[in-house]
Amino acid sequence: MKNIGIVASHATESRVTIILNEGMEKEVESESLVLVENKNGGKILAVCRSGIGINDVLRATTYSPGVAYAKTGRQPSTAKEFFGFNLVIIGDVSRGKIEQNKRIIAPTSPVKLFEKYDDPFSYFGFHKLKIGHYKDVINWQVPVREEYIPFHIGVFGVTGSGKSFFCRYELIPLLRNAGYDVLVFDWKGSDYTPYFEGSISMRDIEMDDEAIISFLCSKAGNFGSGKIADTMKGYLEEALADGEWRSHSPEEAKRLLYSRVARIIEDENRDKQGNVTQWGRLYLRRLEKGFKRISVEDFATILGKMGPEQILERLRQQHILVIDMSLGSKEQKLSVFLSITRYLKDLMEKKNRLNIALLIDEAPQYCPYSPRDLEEETTEMITSLCALGRTYGLSIILLSQGIAGEIGINAAVRRNLNTQFIGRIHPLDLEEAAKLFAMSGVDPENLLRLPEGYFYFVGKMNPSPVPLLLSFQIKEEEKVGRSTRA
Ligand SMILES: Nc1ncnc2c1ncn2[C@@H]1O[C@H](COP(=O)(O)OP(=O)(O)O)[C@@H](O)[C@H]1O
Ligand SMILES: [Mg+2]
Repeated sequence: MKNIGIVASHATESRVTIILNEGMEKEVESESLVLVENKNGGKILAVCRSGIGINDVLRATTYSPGVAYAKTGRQPSTAKEFFGFNLVIIGDVSRGKIEQNKRIIAPTSPVKLFEKYDDPFSYFGFHKLKIGHYKDVINWQVPVREEYIPFHIGVFGVTGSGKSFFCRYELIPLLRNAGYDVLVFDWKGSDYTPYFEGSISMRDIEMDDEAIISFLCSKAGNFGSGKIADTMKGYLEEALADGEWRSHSPEEAKRLLYSRVARIIEDENRDKQGNVTQWGRLYLRRLEKGFKRISVEDFATILGKMGPEQILERLRQQHILVIDMSLGSKEQKLSVFLSITRYLKDLMEKKNRLNIALLIDEAPQYCPYSPRDLEEETTEMITSLCALGRTYGLSIILLSQGIAGEIGINAAVRRNLNTQFIGRIHPLDLEEAAKLFAMSGVDPENLLRLPEGYFYFVGKMNPSPVPLLLSFQIKEEEKVGRSTRA
């Protein structure tokens, strides 16, 4: 450790400004970790946030000889120049763990900077689990409070801020080390599916009739619009009721379903002579047109056989199971999500402990700011999973571009996320970020400029009461992969 300065006047038990020794302004940075050896007793661990350079002969608000010098392009005196830093206090660590500091911090108390080969986190007490590393120091792994994993996690940051990478490299391994089996819903099918073995695709999963109907209707352009679309949907529903078509090949299933719908249309649209009416012929034409738009490939995606029990069984064997959701409509994706989570909810209601983590990328697709249609069901489902999960060991991890408002996730769901990892945010989220970072000395505007792969660790899983900036390492080939793509 290195002496860098002393505590300035007007320090309290929770607020400190330090004056840096000459030259130290080039070594101490925002987010540097320091130890204050309080002359009133105790060792205080703190983080440097918001520095300041002072030179009284250069006040920009009054005229002075210094200002006159500057005006003419000459070099004013630096004799009265000094640098300071505000510290945000993590706590008193003199007893080997973090405790609230209760003593006034004495001005002139010496301040030391942690250097690369020091271990500031050893002052946090013992923590089995670690995540990433502190800021730029690769050997300072950040400790985690394991017991708060089932109090749920939010990972926020604009597209490209590194959320998916963070989950792949850090969060999923952490959850595994804590004994959770991790079920990943990969909305786009590109962020996790290629990186984990044994993923399953939407087309493997069994779908209920409701999901099948909305999927086929959307593929068929709803067979028209308005009342015709409603009637056609009704005929399709009737035809699906007998599930026999499901046990055939996609081609055969398509043919069978087509002829079944056609028969229903003919039967229900006959005049007294037994001939198909004009309306009936219209419906038949719509049916033909609509079915032309549904490919055999589309049929393949709805013939899955895997139910939620089998999915859970696979998860228990593999420990990490990715569901590739890239095929299929939004309704279909949400239906699959509902059928799996309904089963998990049921298990918890029957008092089973799960030890499962659900990682949901692109969370606003499931629980947006103002949910509509199926989203209402998925939002409600996530909220109740959060409530039950705390008791029965189900951890929910939501990834989102935005925190609050239109770009964020539903407020009822958000209230359940007790730990946040916050990367580069969208300007629309400044206000929400200001709330999360209140009293932490982090200027929310800094959050607009965070580089990719940097996240502030905030909330219950963080042993420090103030947010800490962390990052993580990715494999060399991923960096290469990115630059060749760019
Ligand atoms: N820790 C990191 N170090 C360096 N680059 C990173 C790191 N994390 C992410 N990146 C880069 O950022 C890009 C975007 O990451 P990604 O996780 O896909 O973002 P998001 O899921 O937030 O859209 C990646 O392609 C990767 O190259
Ligand atoms: Mg992503």
